[in-house]
Amino acid sequence: MIRQNQAIIDLNAIRDNYRLMVSQVPQDVRVMAVVKANAYGHGMLEVARTVEAAGCRDLAVAIPEEGAQLRENGIKANILVLGAATDAAAETAIKLGLTQTVFEPDTVKALNETAEELGLPAYVHIKLDTGMGRIGLRTQGEAEALALALQQAKRVKVTGIYTHFADADNVDDNGEINDYTQKQLASFEALRACFDPGIPAHVSNSAMSLVSPQAHFSMIRQGISLYGYPPVKTNLDFHHALRWETEIVYVKEIAVGDSVSYGCTFTADKPMRVATVAVGYGDGYHRLMSNRGQMLVEGKRANIIGRICMDQTIVDVTDIPQAKVGSRAVLIGTQGNDQIGADELAGWAETISYEILLAITARVPRTYLPVQ
Ligand SMILES: Cc1ncc(COP(=O)(O)O)c(C=O)c1O
Repeated sequence: MIRQNQAIIDLNAIRDNYRLMVSQVPQDVRVMAVVKANAYGHGMLEVARTVEAAGCRDLAVAIPEEGAQLRENGIKANILVLGAATDAAAETAIKLGLTQTVFEPDTVKALNETAEELGLPAYVHIKLDTGMGRIGLRTQGEAEALALALQQAKRVKVTGIYTHFADADNVDDNGEINDYTQKQLASFEALRACFDPGIPAHVSNSAMSLVSPQAHFSMIRQGISLYGYPPVKTNLDFHHALRWETEIVYVKEIAVGDSVSYGCTFTADKPMRVATVAVGYGDGYHRLMSNRGQMLVEGKRANIIGRICMDQTIVDVTDIPQAKVGSRAVLIGTQGNDQIGADELAGWAETISYEILLAITARVPRTYLPVQ
């Protein structure tokens, strides 16, 4: 690494965040680790290996390619593909023992035929759309038709039934879920009644797992809280797993009237000391943070001035006299007594912590702190 810009991922934090969630649910409730999208930018394989070593038996990915990558690298846990099963994925998914998401009779029939040809079982979870409006069956009629198709598909083994909430993190001041989420939960119970009641159920994402113990069912799905960002208020001590730091590459004085960066959106109204930092939107540092965001330099907050460029960003270090070429600039993480989290960047960039974390591009090397 020549440019000192890196994401440092503490696998101890991942393990501890997983264990923390396990400690919050009854012993017979499993915690599925959601590792899709490169484990929210943290490194899918490293995260999967860490939680598997900590006892996790269930992983979730979004697309079959992610599941295949896990299997090809020796991951033995159950792997649920959250996206809808497709004809194109069937053979690979069945051969690799990936669990596929189904909600239409035709998909079940096609999977059964492929499984028959391969002489292997096809594992599936049933997806109910109770209000997310994305994928899943929505009506009693659709549920009955799917139940019938599943009965006739002898090679297809149902190992789960699930839904996903649209607004679970939108809770009131007492941490109670709202009416929409209540309705989704009721709709889940109603549609689920069309299937064998013995099928393990799971509905809760991070938010719902934390606010609604009655919705734990057989398993909860832990995504963003595994990475240290619970999306609802909690007293639980989750730890941010990812630190992102870079360096100052140039420091200079500018005079009244001098502007910095593209579009001249910042012009000095006093003499200033400014630093150029080795990060830009080419690294996934969101351009919307131009003239809004901050980073930590020598333990103090430095304001971003002017537009974030593809590879460089300029900050005001007038009040940070120790700032010099080579000083670390912490984009996400702790320095001195201060901390900047991905959620704070999300505020500046008008997005969510999820996007901030997984937007960090492949150009930024990942360094892993191993589990101790
Ligand atoms: C179906 C499904 N379940 C669970 C999760 C995990 O959600 P969270 O990261 O909020 O815990 C996701 C994430 O998008 C999802 O799509």
